[in-house]
Amino acid sequence: MNNHQALFEAFTFKSGVHVRNRIMMAPMTTFSADKQDLVSQEELDYYRERSNGAGTIITACAYVSKNGKGFEGQMGIDHDGTIAGLSKLAGVIHEGGAKGVVQLYHGGRLAVPKLVPGGETVSASAVTPLGDATR
Ligand SMILES: Cc1cc2nc3c(=O)[nH]c(=O)nc-3n(C[C@H](O)[C@H](O)[C@H](O)COP(=O)(O)O)c2cc1C
Repeated sequence: MNNHQALFEAFTFKSGVHVRNRIMMAPMTTFSADKQDLVSQEELDYYRERSNGAGTIITACAYVSKNGKGFEGQMGIDHDGTIAGLSKLAGVIHEGGAKGVVQLYHGGRLAVPKLVPGGETVSASAVTPLGDATR
């Protein structure tokens, strides 16, 4: 037995959720949501190709409200209209035998003004973002 054997062993969380191994794919943004910020076919294809090995797939981050959008091509999870696409995404991940986790995101003061309603970003404090303040 090598030191990494446990990684390949199944695990059942207290909630009853069972994963076939302890490997998780880290969230990696794909910038490929469609023009309405919904899950695109490209995104479904990307996850289909990656869901047959790891126990758990963490998706690209999805903004939880429109004023938290952080980049072009980011998917949203901010209204019920996103559910159909996200369900398809979950289905693709489950078909591969993995569990799926959607990563929730709000850009706060680092959200991109040109991508948010009225160009108005929000934050918990009045601290100016470091770096490019002209975005
Ligand atoms: C293309 C790309 C997209 C990423 N997108 C996200 C993301 O959406 N959310 C997140 O928390 N981390 C994101 N990350 C960070 C990765 O999840 C990971 O933490 C980082 O790459 C460090 O792991 P590594 O040293 O194995 O590369 C991204 C990384 C890459 C390379």
